[in-house]
Amino acid sequence: MKLIFLGPPGAGKGTLAVRVKELLKTPHISTGAIFRDAIGAKSPLGLKVKAVIDAGKLVDDETTIALVKERLEQADAQEGYILDGFPRTTAQAEALETFSAVDKVVNFDIPDSGVMERLSGRRVCRKCGFNFHAVFNKPKKEGVCDFCGGEVYIREDDKPSAIAKRLDVYRAQTQPLIDFYRKKGLLIDIDASPLVDEILVGFRKALGV
Ligand code: AP5
Ligand code: MG
Repeated sequence: MKLIFLGPPGAGKGTLAVRVKELLKTPHISTGAIFRDAIGAKSPLGLKVKAVIDAGKLVDDETTIALVKERLEQADAQEGYILDGFPRTTAQAEALETFSAVDKVVNFDIPDSGVMERLSGRRVCRKCGFNFHAVFNKPKKEGVCDFCGGEVYIREDDKPSAIAKRLDVYRAQTQPLIDFYRKKGLLIDIDASPLVDEILVGFRKALGV
């Protein structure tokens, strides 16, 4: 199944994607994670996007579209995928239609208060990317990943000024995609406020999987 996870920053897209990828045996493709890996590796892509991402702004469409197009050409993405954080602009959504046919778009419905609570407590493993939370899902040993032993850190764009910018950018550029996909009959709304086990139940019911 070819899925898009659409929703504001901190809605829990990445967290649910980890569970759904095991269930559906499809790759989880997070543009944000690809950019963060590139920044960590100090590759040309990473050097190009670091300042933009740290400030909570969007990477340009041309760079992002080319990256996703190339990723979706790989063998593991032919039967299905979870696109987490792409598309984020109308130009990206229109470009995606020219190289892949999506089955469903899952819209994560959550109030701003929930987003702030999740982002301000998020802790991420630098090595495997797992998302912990200072209140809802703490690592067993502070600062150390339960799964790979990597360093658990606070994302640069989870600082308060960057969170506010990301929410503004979401409202201006990404929220219009809700209507874009609703009109095409592809949109499924899920309540993203409960804990992840409960969201997964709602997701399975809504998609019949
Ligand atoms: P990206 O990495 O995609 O960030 P985002 O969309 O802002 O989303 P987040 O990763 O912040 O949130 P999430 O919904 O995945 O929530 P999570 O599961 O972590 O993008 C980063 C940047 O890259 C962008 O700002 C942009 O610059 C650039 N970029 C990426 N894609 C781009 C594109 N297409 N075009 C241009 N630029 C692009 O959960 C958050 C926290 O809450 C965690 O701590 C988690 O443990 C906790 N949590 C999650 N679910 C629950 C739950 N159900 N109950 C309790 N706690 C929960
Ligand atoms: Mg994420």
